[in-house]
Amino acid sequence: MVSRKELYNECADMLKNYGNPNAEFDTLCIFQDIFDEKNPLFRPMEAVSQENEKTIREYVKKRSEGYPLQYILGKWEFYGYNFRISPDVLIPRPDTEVLVENVLEICRKEGKISPVIYDLCSGSGCIAVTLKKEIPSAEVYAVEISQKAVDIIKQNSALNNADINIINSNVIDPEFTENLKDIDIIVCNPPYLTQEDMDTLQKEVTFEPELALFGGADGLSFYREITAQWKKCLKKGGYLCYEFGYDQHEDVKNILVENKFENIKLTRDLAGIIRTVTAQKPIKQED
Ligand SMILES: C[S@@+](CC[C@H](N)C(=O)[O-])C[C@H]1O[C@@H](n2cnc3c(N)ncnc32)[C@H](O)[C@@H]1O
Repeated sequence: MVSRKELYNECADMLKNYGNPNAEFDTLCIFQDIFDEKNPLFRPMEAVSQENEKTIREYVKKRSEGYPLQYILGKWEFYGYNFRISPDVLIPRPDTEVLVENVLEICRKEGKISPVIYDLCSGSGCIAVTLKKEIPSAEVYAVEISQKAVDIIKQNSALNNADINIINSNVIDPEFTENLKDIDIIVCNPPYLTQEDMDTLQKEVTFEPELALFGGADGLSFYREITAQWKKCLKKGGYLCYEFGYDQHEDVKNILVENKFENIKLTRDLAGIIRTVTAQKPIKQED
């Protein structure tokens, strides 16, 4: 039988040989998952059961083929909370934590204790669930077009004991927004890749759902449609908060300006890239 340390070294080497720059980290995550221990290498000489060895080897093989670690594990952490993840949803990114921070900052500054928040294009529900955990008296809605993603949002809501409202709908269907009003904050990380991006995706991203990635020829379709359609659903003085892709900030800002939003603030992500925007519906604007 192989020891934990022997198997770990073999797997990490295999991933390194396939050019994985995070080979040690990925192997450790797989070991943590299989042994359900935070520090599985604290017992390096312990023999690995045949069943666990088989599963570890299968996982490492998949990983060596470029399959994302998060889909292999079926779970990932976002803002310190645990989320179920499947290939039906986008893998939650650390960049998106900045978007969550933006919303929390608005609530802190404006003293919003029980805001009505809509998370559009909710995916795994990572934004909606996190906001409900951080602002327990908020009324949070998650809107998502994919039924399979909705099933994952339901699991994540239950897993985190976060009582949110989950709606399976198309965010750009005018009938859906027709009677919605008095929303405090709309938050959205929509699909934003351009056709050119889609044609040159990194291998790992090709495993994520196209529905979560493609934002129209220039990547801006959702910003145009959502901004124009959802502004009437916001309270006067309410906020619209977006995440967007590399170098899209000027275009998204222009869409917000054209739609008469004010107090437009851009924020950088952890890598220093301008990644999110918050904008306010004028207090005096007529709908
Ligand atoms: C970029 S992902 C974001 C997921 C999640 N909010 C996050 O930040 O990890 C975009 C999501 O929008 C969903 N989506 C695409 N078109 C939509 C539409 N017209 N209405 C509602 N959701 C849509 C996709 O299924 C996908 O889950």
